[in-house]
Amino acid sequence: MDGARELLRFLTCGSVDDGKSTLIGRLLYDSQLIFEDTLATLAKDSRKHGTTGEEIDLALLVDGLEAERQQGITIDVAYRFFATPRRSFIVADTPGHEQYTRNMATGASSASLAVILIDARKGVLTQTRRHSYICSLMGIRDIVVAVNKIDLVGFDEGSFDRIVGDYATFAAGLGFRSIVPIPISARFGDNVTSRSGNTPWYHGPALIEHLETVDVSQDLSARPFRFPVQWVNRPNLDFRGFAGTVASGRIAPGDQVVVAASGKSTRVARIVTADGDLAAAEAGQAVTLTLDDEVDVARGDVLSTSADRPQVADQFAGHLLWMDEEAMLPGRSYMMRIGNVWTPCSVTSIRHRVDVNTLEEHAARRLSLNEIGFCNFSAGQPVPLDPYADNRATGAFILVDRFTNRTAGAGMVAFPLRRASNIHHEHFTVDKAARAALLGNAPLVLWFTGLSGSGKSTIANIVEQALHRAGRPTYTLDGDNVRHGLCRDLGFTAEDRVENIRRVGEVAKLFVDAGMIVLCSFISPFRAERRMVRDLLGPGEFVEVFVDTTIEACMARDPKGLYAKAQAGQIKNFTGIDSPYEAPEAPELRIGTEGRTPGECAEEILAALRARGIAC
Ligand code: ADX
Repeated sequence: MDGARELLRFLTCGSVDDGKSTLIGRLLYDSQLIFEDTLATLAKDSRKHGTTGEEIDLALLVDGLEAERQQGITIDVAYRFFATPRRSFIVADTPGHEQYTRNMATGASSASLAVILIDARKGVLTQTRRHSYICSLMGIRDIVVAVNKIDLVGFDEGSFDRIVGDYATFAAGLGFRSIVPIPISARFGDNVTSRSGNTPWYHGPALIEHLETVDVSQDLSARPFRFPVQWVNRPNLDFRGFAGTVASGRIAPGDQVVVAASGKSTRVARIVTADGDLAAAEAGQAVTLTLDDEVDVARGDVLSTSADRPQVADQFAGHLLWMDEEAMLPGRSYMMRIGNVWTPCSVTSIRHRVDVNTLEEHAARRLSLNEIGFCNFSAGQPVPLDPYADNRATGAFILVDRFTNRTAGAGMVAFPLRRASNIHHEHFTVDKAARAALLGNAPLVLWFTGLSGSGKSTIANIVEQALHRAGRPTYTLDGDNVRHGLCRDLGFTAEDRVENIRRVGEVAKLFVDAGMIVLCSFISPFRAERRMVRDLLGPGEFVEVFVDTTIEACMARDPKGLYAKAQAGQIKNFTGIDSPYEAPEAPELRIGTEGRTPGECAEEILAALRARGIAC
């Protein structure tokens, strides 16, 4: 392959029925990238399984993906390669059904053009709208509307015009730069590689002709300069370089640059590569920059021009496509990767969910797999960012589940929020250490987690009495109690439980700051939120006490009669019945309660506190 040939990455959208496999098969076939032996097998298979009579069934070429999908093997995206004398192509072949929205988004994120297939007999369908919306959301600006199976409507111009009109009306709000409609027959090749005599009324290019010539240069090099620093290269005291890939724009020695986070400005001294210094570098090039002055630059910083800088914000709004089986709950902490920065991040609110089929906006309290929401985000630190529409590299981010390390969400920055930006941390002279010293105490949180009726509050009560008698300053936060005040507005859905623990965690942190021992007694069924509270506190300040009582024992005790009600269906979302409990994997203390008195359980906890040097 001729390496100098220009490369076009595009995406095909449609389902098997639309003829997507046949089209891709046709492109591979016509560009003569199929080996002889594959062709022979194909001819044999076509006679056996094909749907095209004596002819070769091109769809069988690419339907392996379909087959694997039916066997339940998860396939992200199949990338296929072909070339013509003028250009080379990478096609992202993604499944079209709604349950594969995340796969389609993945394919679209690196494509610069989309071929949207429409069956000439069926016209614009729900799936056409969904595919177009996702393409638009993922930043694709150039669209080909391939009206396929035009042979099946007798090469009728009227049918074609109607579909083109419908599509144009629908797509008006999606921000596409170009929409090129082409009547094709993937099966017979009309208007695929060459113009067809069957559509004399059509005067535009054949599909391949268009793909070979369309100008889809995102012209990244003409955009403002962005250089996300991947690592700081400091082999010895004389050399300090910043390695990374130019995300957009171009740079030359002598150019002024600004460090986004600090606003410090300096000039580029050298552009270093393994093959020697460069006189300039532009979007896509991996280089090491050295700077004139010793300014502070760390991994994750972004260098830009001073005239056009990225925003730096810890709160922003944007779209989020959820890709995980486990739903996204506002308030839950995820790890965010944006550019080269990793930082905790949570959704503070879902402004609306987008119905991908109708594009209607709905209120939502969570995002499930394949759902898209427009959300407000809060990151653990200010990060440099651009609107995704301006820069795909510095405006895209992912959210990662903190336990499974799975990529759980794909985000597109819309704009920074000015929320708390003018609020600073006020420093007070009397601090946690001073308060704790006055109280003669080592502050900490004893976090009791376990099923309802496991004995959390009973045991916490005995522990607190003993601490109090010993002169230790304590305070108890209890699930049943805070739900009469601080958390009065919350119920027992997963979303509400996340928010309940978030608030309680913040309050517990304040009490620790006040120098006290805080006993928190909450079911707190999700490990993610218990971990969040742990992360709010300092090392050693969070002592997780798992009150480990089996559900059978809790049901037998049923101190408030709630299990009986839950089993009778009178209480919904009851933990252990129809709502999950994720037991701690490594709690500081695991207290089995069955066959022991609450006093004995409390004594085990007090002994552990004494071992930590707390007199009680
Ligand atoms: S948590 O899940 O958000 O941590 P929390 O500890 O505040 O729950 O409240 C639990 C208490 O609320 C239980 O001890 C029980 O008395 C009461 N309760 C009422 N409805 C439910 C329910 N659906 N699930 C669990 N507890 C419930």
